[in-house]
Amino acid sequence: MKLLVTGGSGLMGSKVAEIGLQKGYEVFSGYAHHLPTHGTAVKIDLRNDSSVVEAVKAVRPDVIIHTAALTDVDVCEADKNLAYRMNAQATKTLAESAREVGAFTVYTSTDYVFDGSRGMYKEEDRTNPVNYYGYSKLQGESYCDAVARTCVIYGSRPASGKVNFALWILEKLMRGETAQVVADQHITPTINTNLALMVLELAKPRLKGVYHLAGATRISRYDFAVELARTFGLDADLIIKSRMSEMKWAAKRPADSSLETSKASRCLETTPWSIEEALRTLKNEIG
Ligand SMILES: NC(=O)c1ccc[n+]([C@@H]2O[C@H](COP(=O)([O-])OP(=O)(O)OC[C@H]3O[C@@H](n4cnc5c(N)ncnc54)[C@H](OP(=O)(O)O)[C@@H]3O)[C@@H](O)[C@H]2O)c1
Repeated sequence: MKLLVTGGSGLMGSKVAEIGLQKGYEVFSGYAHHLPTHGTAVKIDLRNDSSVVEAVKAVRPDVIIHTAALTDVDVCEADKNLAYRMNAQATKTLAESAREVGAFTVYTSTDYVFDGSRGMYKEEDRTNPVNYYGYSKLQGESYCDAVARTCVIYGSRPASGKVNFALWILEKLMRGETAQVVADQHITPTINTNLALMVLELAKPRLKGVYHLAGATRISRYDFAVELARTFGLDADLIIKSRMSEMKWAAKRPADSSLETSKASRCLETTPWSIEEALRTLKNEIG
């Protein structure tokens, strides 16, 4: 199978490319600024439609796993045109080009399509984004064959060098610094390894529709940070409880955007991992 992973230098995409290669697929890794470490690198600029079209025509993949996006929630709020162009328009162009070469498209979406007033959202629940990032990602959902919604991805550092929530906590605690973490935001954190395995299982048999591919455990950000400290033998007392209202975020965040994952458990061989299983994997991966 010939696989094109957009965002191949990112947190999710780099794992999809790595595991895709392990499964024996021919992997092409899209990137914008940071050279991917797995697969054949393909430059793609989501801001430029012709760059997207050319990349798809050049690779002619069987499957595209589209993880590239403008992922900074506050930047999306500040530059809505750019967010729309990269998250919605580029997805439309990618999906149209994919259809021309017969490629199956999997779009990575987000828990931020929900308003967070309830939590444990199912695939068919009403979407109602509270910020522009969530809105722009929701627009992108309509174009692809499958939609994989996920939540707070973490894992080993990708080629882009971007620090995710888990690494940020671990690095702070290792330096003996305190970390302020909100206790009133609930999530289903998702390790990139589990996510990559699930998304590839969705892509291979071309399963269409919306799937929640997230961790199996609903937890507050604060409790997640404490679990990280425990797993790595670090001082959990350095984690200071705070509230969402104290954070100086430009964009509003949903309070409980946890995702219910029973559809993934029913349909896929790799099921969503519990927090304990995921943190054991993280410890094995990064020591
Ligand atoms: N992170 C989360 O907690 C989270 C939660 C829910 C959903 N999601 C969704 O999951 C997907 C993956 O997220 P992630 O955290 O893995 O992303 P990420 O680490 O921020 O990586 C973003 C990727 O997009 C690429 N990119 C940036 N600007 C680009 C451009 N102009 N043209 C082409 N590619 C460009 C980056 O390439 P360069 O590094 O080369 O610039 C990078 O490979 C995204 O679609 C995101 O919306 C993420």
